[in-house]
Amino acid sequence: MNVLVVGAGSVGQVFARHYQRGGAAVTFFVREKYKTEVERGFDLYPLNERRARRGEAVRFYGFEVVTRPDEVAARRFDQVMFTVASPALRGPWLPELVAAAGDATIVALQPGLDDRGRYLEAGAAEERLVQGLISLISYHAPLPGETRFATPGMAYWFPPLAPSPFSGPAGRRDAVIAALRKGGLPAKKHRDVPRTAGFPTAVMMPYLVALELGGWTVKGAARADKLALGGRGAREAIEVVRALLGRPPFGTGLLARPAILRAGVFLARPLIPLPLEVYLQEHFTKVGDQTRELLDGYIAKGKAAGLPTAALEQLAAELATARTS
Ligand SMILES: NC(=O)c1ccc[n+]([C@@H]2O[C@H](COP(=O)([O-])OP(=O)(O)OC[C@H]3O[C@@H](n4cnc5c(N)ncnc54)[C@H](OP(=O)(O)O)[C@@H]3O)[C@@H](O)[C@H]2O)c1
Repeated sequence: MNVLVVGAGSVGQVFARHYQRGGAAVTFFVREKYKTEVERGFDLYPLNERRARRGEAVRFYGFEVVTRPDEVAARRFDQVMFTVASPALRGPWLPELVAAAGDATIVALQPGLDDRGRYLEAGAAEERLVQGLISLISYHAPLPGETRFATPGMAYWFPPLAPSPFSGPAGRRDAVIAALRKGGLPAKKHRDVPRTAGFPTAVMMPYLVALELGGWTVKGAARADKLALGGRGAREAIEVVRALLGRPPFGTGLLARPAILRAGVFLARPLIPLPLEVYLQEHFTKVGDQTRELLDGYIAKGKAAGLPTAALEQLAAELATARTS
């Protein structure tokens, strides 16, 4: 099994390591500027293991690194997994890489409503497109205030009972799941990831903006009255996604209630082996463009469908002010 992992950031390193542990030969596709650094290999902290929680890193190496589509075309891959953020899918590189990948299964992990369309437009036909949702948490350690890691590395954690779901043509989907599970990455079959993923993403994005506006703590967001605004935004975004994808999964509406979200964060905090709000701040600052793009997408689609978007628009306006001040 030959796998190309596109992007060697937080998510790419984790999926690549588990593909390799399952016996796959891994190649990274990275920007030229990262080649030398990636070739040196990585220190990882798999936080589901006690020794990593104590600060002991595992080395991840023994992969190839390429930077150009012609290098991809010169090799044969069974699966090509794209681990870049949604905004990175724009531009001519995507169709070039999809074409260079030959008949490989294209594995898409991006959460945006338009992302599947981007792959289809880039030439990844339905019959070879497998879609997944990332349920793991992965970050550059140490986070500010974390003292357990002696050296920097990528820390990651698989939440219990939450395997990453994958959907798509059965044979290709099952091959992706089998390769990842063999390497110890929790993965499961799903009927329709893009449809189901649309709703939690719609709930999450307005709340993330609320959190950013509240200084990246739930308490701060609640105190500044941003959590309530985030909840209204989440309800608007759910209606936008409902208009496009149909009925939301059971319980989606509950998540859009700030009190439920606060209770969830309160209960989850002691169960998660990392400082949750600090991770959210670091990660969603890094992928801030993606949050903005998704928010703008809900507003544009909501307006086009004649749905209310006032809270989403207020969040977008306040975010723009906060980011420029
Ligand atoms: N990390 C998590 O815990 C987590 C959890 C759930 C979901 N996700 C989602 O997973 C996606 C990736 O997140 P991440 O944390 O892995 O981000 P990341 O650490 O920034 O990794 C993405 C990598 O892809 C690279 N990239 C972008 N365009 C590329 C291109 N054309 N060719 C090659 N490489 C390219 C980026 O390079 P540059 O930095 O130079 O652009 C970056 O190194 C996001 O959609 C995120 O929301 C992440």
